[in-house]
Amino acid sequence: MPNSDWTRQSLDLSRVFYQLSDTSVFELKRFIADHNLSGHVDQLAIDRSHFHSLMLDVEKLRTEVDDGQKFVVVKAIEGFGPVQTEAVHWILSLLLGETIVQNEEGRHLIHIYDRDPKRRIKDGARYHQTHESGQIHTDNVNIPENYQYLLVGCANPAKIGGENIIVNGRAIYDYLNTHAREELEILKNNFVFEYRGISRELYEAPIITFSERGEPLFRHLRTYMESAQMRADKPLTEDQVRALDTLDAALSMSEFQLLYRLKSGEILVANDSQVLHDRRCFVDGKDMITLDELKKHPESKKPLKRTLLRTWVRKI
Ligand SMILES: [Fe+2]
Repeated sequence: MPNSDWTRQSLDLSRVFYQLSDTSVFELKRFIADHNLSGHVDQLAIDRSHFHSLMLDVEKLRTEVDDGQKFVVVKAIEGFGPVQTEAVHWILSLLLGETIVQNEEGRHLIHIYDRDPKRRIKDGARYHQTHESGQIHTDNVNIPENYQYLLVGCANPAKIGGENIIVNGRAIYDYLNTHAREELEILKNNFVFEYRGISRELYEAPIITFSERGEPLFRHLRTYMESAQMRADKPLTEDQVRALDTLDAALSMSEFQLLYRLKSGEILVANDSQVLHDRRCFVDGKDMITLDELKKHPESKKPLKRTLLRTWVRKI
């Protein structure tokens, strides 16, 4: 049963949590023992022939992410800390496909943490660099090309808060198709988006498109899109605003949401355009350090900030 139209009620949690096999864990431990992990992990190449077992696991979880409930959470590996988790995250990303550059520095794996508690999204900060709760969104808004997978690894959860929210796009689409057909049609037309954090360019794309199999695909991060419409000097029409309000109201309905706070070492693998996501606001404690600082000073006893890891992966 694909269960691709799951709601909070019908989600099969036994299919959400994925345990890597013992042999896969062995392959990962061998890789970690043989490599220096103190630099940027996304500069590490892998030899696929060293990951026979892990590749089988990846294909199993890929089936769930492509054809099933559209996301899984890979369980933490016992004894692995944040640095090892980052390596696992990177290796899983490489086995799933081709990773995508996410910022001007050319990083393929980035750390999501609160850079400056005083900096807000409304002032132009990228959402992943703040502690604010955002809006339910897809990540695939900064570039027009589609990629299939979003991986979010948890190096460390927040001191308080920071629950992850996962919403099934298919269920939202079906709901709007029954209750708000006119607004749904508007979402299938072009809106303006920006390459926030990548360049100053703008591009146009619909919020809802369809896969070859007719599955609805979403491209939605309202604040970025609204800022792009302003920059393009194309203020949203009344109908467009109502369509967006309709979509956001449906996305905010608890019956379509799974709330789950990722634990240390867990890695979410999601079909980015078919499940939307968000997080609740969070707070770090005093005097906490970043993952890069921890890598430079592994002897540090200071606790790690809430740090999530992120890759975007195109299926090849
Ligand atoms: Fe996101």
